[in-house]
Amino acid sequence: MTDTTQQQRQPQRLNMQPEEDVGPPVVQIRNLWTRFGRTVVHQDLNLDIYAGEILTIVGGSGTGKTVLLRQMLGLERPSKGCVRVFGKDISAAEPEDLQRMRNHWGMLFQQGALYSALTVFDNIALPMRELHALPEDVIRDAVLLKMNMVGLGPEHASKMPADLSGGMVKRAALARALALEPQLLFLDEPTAGLDPDLSDAFVSLIQTLHRELKLTVVMVTHDLDTLFALSSRIAVLAEKHVLAVGPSCDVLRVDHPFIKHFFLGPRGQRALEVLVERNAQNDSES
Ligand SMILES: Nc1ncnc2c1ncn2[C@@H]1O[C@H](COP(=O)(O)OP(=O)(O)OP(=O)(O)O)[C@@H](O)[C@H]1O
Ligand SMILES: [Mg+2]
Repeated sequence: MTDTTQQQRQPQRLNMQPEEDVGPPVVQIRNLWTRFGRTVVHQDLNLDIYAGEILTIVGGSGTGKTVLLRQMLGLERPSKGCVRVFGKDISAAEPEDLQRMRNHWGMLFQQGALYSALTVFDNIALPMRELHALPEDVIRDAVLLKMNMVGLGPEHASKMPADLSGGMVKRAALARALALEPQLLFLDEPTAGLDPDLSDAFVSLIQTLHRELKLTVVMVTHDLDTLFALSSRIAVLAEKHVLAVGPSCDVLRVDHPFIKHFFLGPRGQRALEVLVERNAQNDSES
């Protein structure tokens, strides 16, 4: 590689929110490298995520989006560099500290959203039971509340994951991610495998929860409708680092082959048209 100067490795920060509104980053990633054997996945990657935003990470398959989320959660350590969450270097945190911190974060994984051997109820109750501090009647009320929050009726509580539809599995997994009332929510491909209607319903659900719970959300998605509907800012992962980060309208203007291909192909054009229509509708309703 020849283009590894610090200058070139900084993401293009496009039209950041004004400093006074932004506050310190909730997640701060500095000069992060990830290697698996001889394969370099991330090289000098930098990214800041701010309170209250929905930051969406996009990039080609295998560019290290899931690994990056796992590093933010402290489930994997970077080969080099630093990940700070709420100001704490999580690569250097003790396991007990890390577990305490994770109790304030919710996560919806790309794979294996629920434990297949546990009922919906027990899946959602699990993070609360693991605290060993809450009586079972409090847990019961909290589980039913979370189920209600994500639109799952109590009749689904005793079902096994295999007996749920794809959309219901995602909802139950989201209820589990919200179990401990997180400040920070990680979503890896939340709408993958859902049909367009279920996907739209899931997007509305995230919008409502984001607004009502004042969450900071870090999301990975390939789905352009989800991306345009939800993102405050987009971070583009390409060439092993964050190539550009900013609001979608600014990122779309960056002249890079991946960005052109990803956003401005036929899929991207369709998603953009839907977004423009939706915005016009919202404007006329307000
Ligand atoms: N534990 C591991 N050991 C070796 N290689 C790994 C490991 N975890 C991930 N990788 C490799 O790192 C790269 C990035 O993986 P990752 O799952 O983060 O990609 P991704 O961007 O999430 O892709 P997708 O969009 O398909 O989900 C891939 O080449 C993957 O094979
Ligand atoms: Mg992935």
